[in-house]
Amino acid sequence: MRLSGARVALVGLIVAACLGIPALVAAQESGAAPYKAPNEGKEMYVAYCGSCHGAQGRGDGPAATALKVPPADLTVLMKNNGGTFPEAKFRQIMANGTVAAHGNADMPIWGQIFKKMDKDPAVTAVRIENLMKYVQVLNYPIK
Ligand code: HEC
Repeated sequence: MRLSGARVALVGLIVAACLGIPALVAAQESGAAPYKAPNEGKEMYVAYCGSCHGAQGRGDGPAATALKVPPADLTVLMKNNGGTFPEAKFRQIMANGTVAAHGNADMPIWGQIFKKMDKDPAVTAVRIENLMKYVQVLNYPIK
């Protein structure tokens, strides 16, 4: 059977996607995340979080299926915390990572990555606050 050009292209695309997603995850885990301004909540979210947690935060990003532990749905953080966004917990997770009950967590420890981006801890704190503000907005669906 002869493969049509379109089929070959499709197979190539699938192979590229399979190879590309773990590479993307590895790059983020190794701290090779692109530099984004600490006051740009949305840009940071898209560059650092969306690949796993999805554009709207629902845990359905393109890299999600490559992970052992599924990325959390970030749109329900407020609802699951009695209607108040869990700010202290969010800051704690950003600084120190999540506590996975079983095995190793696929969630990168962002605090370590952000510390490498900006030497000043005050800038890292601003970065985390602005990221949190953006994630908070994802908890209020705009219809
Ligand atoms: C490589 C994929 C990946 C990326 C990128 C990623 N996360 Fe996660 N995240 C996960 C996974 C997997 C979990 C759930 C596993 C766990 O709890 O250890 C998680 C859990 C979380 C939780 C805990 C939610 C809860 O219910 O307690 C928060 C908050 C969170 N991520 C925020 C972020 C933010 C903000 C970013 C961007 C700075 C980000 N994540 C980037 C994979 C990722």
